[in-house]
Amino acid sequence: MYTLKNQILVTVLLVSCFGAAPVFAADMAAGEQKEAVCMGCHGPKGKSSGAQWPNLAAQQKLYLTNQLKAFKAGTRNNPMMQAMAANLSDDDINNLAAYYSSQPAVSAGGDVTLAKSGQPKASMCLGCHGSSAEGNGQFPRLAGQNPNYLVKQLSNFKEGERKNGHMQAIAGTLSEEDMKALAAYFGSL
Ligand code: HEC
Ligand code: HEC
Repeated sequence: MYTLKNQILVTVLLVSCFGAAPVFAADMAAGEQKEAVCMGCHGPKGKSSGAQWPNLAAQQKLYLTNQLKAFKAGTRNNPMMQAMAANLSDDDINNLAAYYSSQPAVSAGGDVTLAKSGQPKASMCLGCHGSSAEGNGQFPRLAGQNPNYLVKQLSNFKEGERKNGHMQAIAGTLSEEDMKALAAYFGSL
């Protein structure tokens, strides 16, 4: 009886594992297909083609989902992205987030001297953004992100143009030099 129960349990586990895999693969394939609309700015596989556009490759899945929903709801402000997100269904958003989060990470690179001066300041960011700035769930990956984009987001938080309690408080304590140094450091990872 005990063995039979175990066998049933194993069967159920196997079925649920194999049952889940094709769904995930479908998400990825659907996300990859949808990527055509995003590629002009965010580049192939989320490796951005310009300093003003963030890399999406290897970004946290939950963070990507949250941001696309925020653009769609108008709680994160950017006319270009609000227009893009308006056309995405919840499924599209999940598929795109699954696709981009599983692409290999890229490094934008940053000014070497600035990056060195940013390193000591970065320790206060790693508690939330991950010990290698790889992000975690709702906390975005900062490693390898375009420095220009990072500076813009930090000043948006400081000015209250972009809303987030934690980040507005932290950015409020940073000077413009701090932001540039931190951005160069994170971009260089
Ligand atoms: C015309 C250019 C353009 C296109 C096309 C575009 N984006 Fe964007 N995207 C931007 C810009 C600019 C930003 C930065 C917005 C800001 O400064 O807040 C951005 C930001 C984002 C962010 C936030 C990233 C972060 O690190 O917070 C996500 C997620 C995103 N875009 C996803 C997409 C997806 C998915 C598509 C395709 C459906 C897409 N974008 C198409 C220009 C574009
Ligand atoms: C208490 C946790 C916490 C700490 C500490 C923290 N952050 Fe953040 N950070 C967040 C959260 C949460 C978000 C996502 C906000 C959102 O969803 O819009 C974020 C977002 C960001 C973004 C936007 C990234 C993007 O792709 O658009 C930047 C840039 C950033 N943080 C830089 C920093 C820097 C630099 C430090 C250290 C000086 C820091 N953060 C410290 C929680 C934190």
